[in-house]
Amino acid sequence: MTKHIMYLQCSRCGKKYYYDEKPITCVNNDLGRLDIVYDYEALKEFYTRDYVTKKPLINQWKYFDLLPPTKEENIVTLGEGATPLIRANRLAEKLGIRKLWLKDETRNPTASFKDRGMSVSVSVAKEFGFKRATTASSGNAAAALAAYAAKAGMEVYAFVIEQAGYGKIAQLLFYGARVFKVRGLGREDPTVKLMKLTYEKFGFYPSPSFGPFNPYQIEGPKAISYEIVEQMNWEVPDWVFVPVGAASLLTGVWKGFRDYRELGLIDRMPHLFAVQSKGNPPFVRAFKESQDPHNIKPWDKPHTIAWGLEDPYPWDGDAGIMALRTTNGDAEEVSDDLILKAMKWLAQYEGIFAEPSGAAGLAGLMVALEDGRVGRDDEVVVLVTGHGLKDPDIVKETAGDAPIINPDLNEFKEVLGKRYGIQL
Ligand SMILES: Cc1ncc(COP(=O)(O)O)c(C=O)c1O
Ligand SMILES: [Zn+2]
Repeated sequence: MTKHIMYLQCSRCGKKYYYDEKPITCVNNDLGRLDIVYDYEALKEFYTRDYVTKKPLINQWKYFDLLPPTKEENIVTLGEGATPLIRANRLAEKLGIRKLWLKDETRNPTASFKDRGMSVSVSVAKEFGFKRATTASSGNAAAALAAYAAKAGMEVYAFVIEQAGYGKIAQLLFYGARVFKVRGLGREDPTVKLMKLTYEKFGFYPSPSFGPFNPYQIEGPKAISYEIVEQMNWEVPDWVFVPVGAASLLTGVWKGFRDYRELGLIDRMPHLFAVQSKGNPPFVRAFKESQDPHNIKPWDKPHTIAWGLEDPYPWDGDAGIMALRTTNGDAEEVSDDLILKAMKWLAQYEGIFAEPSGAAGLAGLMVALEDGRVGRDDEVVVLVTGHGLKDPDIVKETAGDAPIINPDLNEFKEVLGKRYGIQL
């Protein structure tokens, strides 16, 4: 056993590995995820509510006991986590619900929740002695990796989809990553193909934000759940709404609540609610159609404004489906129009500017309230996962541009009426 990690176990073949062997992928090449198994009995000895409460919440490393790496000196941090849980009263009123909170993950260092996982992943890479990392991503995870790698002095080779928004590419290039937009040819994900090849042929450390190619990063989002529980004063909400692409975030959030349940710190689990876009809903379909979690049907031609959720194959869908089944959760697909509406409502009622993928969770809540799956008295937490400035093109398409006027009060009043419909 290393620190409190007993072993890692492949989610497909069950093969066990020890952390000291520096495992990353299963030797059986079966696309299983090496799930980390902790020694809860040993942790229970000291990891109490009191112990947790005494430590200040400055960043997610407050929870170092429940995260890799094993040595504190290997932590690579930019101050991720410790995001606010905001009581959203205006939005709640608009939705006709009593208790709504937003977990504002847009405030992470590179402006998405992916910082949590990449902080963990790069810390482990440092502990394992890697100098070069490779990744496949729609943009946010790669940008996060690039930032943490920069901090650690590690090189990054990033393969992103051709349609990735410039905000994300700009971040990557500026952090010093070698970025490639990869054309999609055939059924195989072209970015994953190159990540895999550079891992196998050149020994680069694979650091995407999904489990089968990196089991460590998935531990980062667990801290979202630890923080929610603490910020709600050790209460558990009825529902947590989670936007889903690869389902790694969902898996991490589930694991976080499970950790706390195993440790006896909470006595129930929230229902988890997964949200995808109608333009790419393979995970939601798999759940609704009771597909085999290990053989989820990939989506043929993903197309949505929520690029972050465009994974045609939900890599961690097996665990994601279990998360929904065991928490009596649910899932829904939402239209791009509803995602845009959610973006606007978040900004206009709560002052939070999210990108489409970041606002999808709220769109899911809108549907679930409408059809009665979530009650008006339920306590709901919605994860807001990425910042609106990541995607300036979408914002311009939706919000348009500002009118240009002369410094003249009459012209101001005239254009105010025309453009914004306001008479003074
Ligand atoms: C802003 C944002 N939200 C949510 C997700 C979905 O996370 P996951 O792929 O782990 O399901 C992503 C993934 O890229 C994202 O960028
Ligand atoms: Zn295996």
